[in-house]
Amino acid sequence: MGRISCFPAFSNSTMIQLFNVSKQFGQNMALADVNLRIRQGEFVFITGPSGAGKTTLLRLIFGAQRPSDGSILISNINLSRIRRDKLDLMRRRIGFVFQDFKLLSGKTAFQNVALALEVIGERPSVIRKKTRQILRAVGLNGKETLYPPELSGGEQQRIAIARAIINEPIILLADEPTGSLDPDITKEIMLLFRTINLRGTTVVFATHSRELLRDTEQRTVLIKGGCVVQETAPTLDAQP
Ligand SMILES: Nc1ncnc2c1ncn2[C@@H]1O[C@H](COP(=O)(O)OP(=O)(O)O)[C@@H](O)[C@H]1O
Ligand SMILES: [Mg+2]
Repeated sequence: MGRISCFPAFSNSTMIQLFNVSKQFGQNMALADVNLRIRQGEFVFITGPSGAGKTTLLRLIFGAQRPSDGSILISNINLSRIRRDKLDLMRRRIGFVFQDFKLLSGKTAFQNVALALEVIGERPSVIRKKTRQILRAVGLNGKETLYPPELSGGEQQRIAIARAIINEPIILLADEPTGSLDPDITKEIMLLFRTINLRGTTVVFATHSRELLRDTEQRTVLIKGGCVVQETAPTLDAQP
């Protein structure tokens, strides 16, 4: 795994590649013959109406589901060809953020984030230090001991983002992460994703919201009925 841990912030190298990927659920073709290349350090929006296949695409990239056909390479590693234990290691390098946050309501902000380090056997002193740092970085200073129900939607999403990035993922996948947030908070959360991206993490952000994409300079991939129907060119502004 060493080879995927230390990339420079942005380059021409490929981070995610889909070759003729299809995903079928019974008779339903959720994705049909999708080809897509996402470079290291890019910020890409995946957009399209509800049912288009956005979530399926993210889940395939995460290795949570296998394609029915075609192949997916993450940093040149074919997800279909690696052993289960290697796939688990790979998934630790990919963060995932959801619309509904998926936090543990019986644990504090600090505990929700620390858990991501506990499960990989990190030392308690390191866990304390890193968790404090990351909570500060996402703007949750002073909220460490509060439980998700005591926090606003935007604050809860910040916890989920902290949890997703604490292991310094090479890729951050976000599935409608602002879908439950009001416009002002959405702007703040978008800024946070952009900051994470500018620090070198490749971000793939799924949204059905046209509002969110209005005026965006980021690359946008439009899918409909499981097919990529439109794609803008990669932006170069992330280049250092
Ligand atoms: N686990 C599943 N079982 C059966 N059908 C599914 C499953 N996941 C997704 N689908 C179907 O695949 C299509 C794409 O769904 P999805 O990827 O969730 O779209 P989006 O995220 O763009 O709304 C939909 O028709 C959906 O019903
Ligand atoms: Mg979805």
